[in-house]
Amino acid sequence: MPSESPEVKNAPEGKGTPPASRGLFRRAQDWWYYEFRKIVGAWVFAIVLITVVSIGVVVMDFTDYIFSHNTFCGNVCHVMESTVYQELQKSKHWNTPTGVRPTCAHCHVSGRLTYAMMQHVVGTGELFVAMTNDFSMPGSFEKFRPAAAERARFQFFERDSTNCRGCHVMEAIKPSRIRGQNAHNDAMRDGTTNCIVCHYNLVHKEVEPSKAFLATIEAYLGSKEEPAAQEKPASDVSEGEGEVL
Ligand code: HEC
Ligand code: HEC
Ligand code: HEC
Repeated sequence: MPSESPEVKNAPEGKGTPPASRGLFRRAQDWWYYEFRKIVGAWVFAIVLITVVSIGVVVMDFTDYIFSHNTFCGNVCHVMESTVYQELQKSKHWNTPTGVRPTCAHCHVSGRLTYAMMQHVVGTGELFVAMTNDFSMPGSFEKFRPAAAERARFQFFERDSTNCRGCHVMEAIKPSRIRGQNAHNDAMRDGTTNCIVCHYNLVHKEVEPSKAFLATIEAYLGSKEEPAAQEKPASDVSEGEGEVL
């Protein structure tokens, strides 16, 4: 503590040296000891917090990058390699006219980082299935496929096929056949954007849709259809026939 000057010490309150001088020094001192350190403390805290959060985001981004890559989904997991990955390679989403080639994650993992992380965490459940079951026999995946397809379909449905629409813009799609043009005109009129209700069995081996899924589709298309749509016969797809591809 620096010693205070005698004149300041002896000065009577309100006379001689302005009363503020002692107070000013004191206040400056107090400010330094309490306020300034608090401010510095707050800044240090904020900087540490920002750094930790940034590192967290970078780690999450990197994790998402690794676990969203086809080599992880399609190769590291051998069950997928011999099944759904090969199916994708035979689909129209592999050799596309423009060379745009969706990865597993484009369709199956959300583009939003936090949500994607949650999906990766939930996805580790599949590793458990892979570890606790014998997939070495060809065809052993088939036992699990219907349930897996069902889960995937409902996931697309619940997310309003957002992942599909990350690439495809409904208004910009020009179906080559009349059937598709009609279906899409109807869909746009009704505001039906949920691709999966018409485009299931898209890239993997065909799986019969379950009753629960068909009922969900029917209810969805029914709820979308406007009264005006009743005038003409509903398109073949909206009758719940389903598969179009
Ligand atoms: C163009 C979009 C698309 C891409 C790319 C894609 N999937 Fe799928 N996947 C689907 C859809 C849609 C379903 C729901 C089943 C159906 O109706 O086709 C599905 C279902 C699945 C299922 C459930 C089992 C089944 O046969 O339905 C698994 C497992 C799966 N996908 C894994 C993968 C993996 C691994 C990759 C990358 C190698 C991949 N998917 C790439 C769209 C895609
Ligand atoms: C990474 C971008 C991307 C994503 C994600 C994607 N597609 Fe595609 N899709 C394409 C490309 C590229 C083509 C082939 C080029 C074309 O015909 O425009 C295609 C073709 C198609 C076709 C016509 C070929 C066929 O298989 O009959 C349909 C239908 C289709 N996509 C539906 C979907 C649906 C439904 C989803 C979501 C489950 C989806 N796509 C997700 C890029 C994508
Ligand atoms: C109400 C049902 C319905 C909805 C909803 C729908 N489609 Fe389609 N779509 C069809 C039908 C039917 C066809 C014609 C398929 C055919 O010709 O084999 C088609 C054709 C297409 C084609 C062109 C295929 C070709 O080569 O002509 C693409 C691409 C496509 N749909 C993508 C999508 C995407 C992406 C979505 C969601 C944003 C979507 N569709 C929503 C019924 C629908």
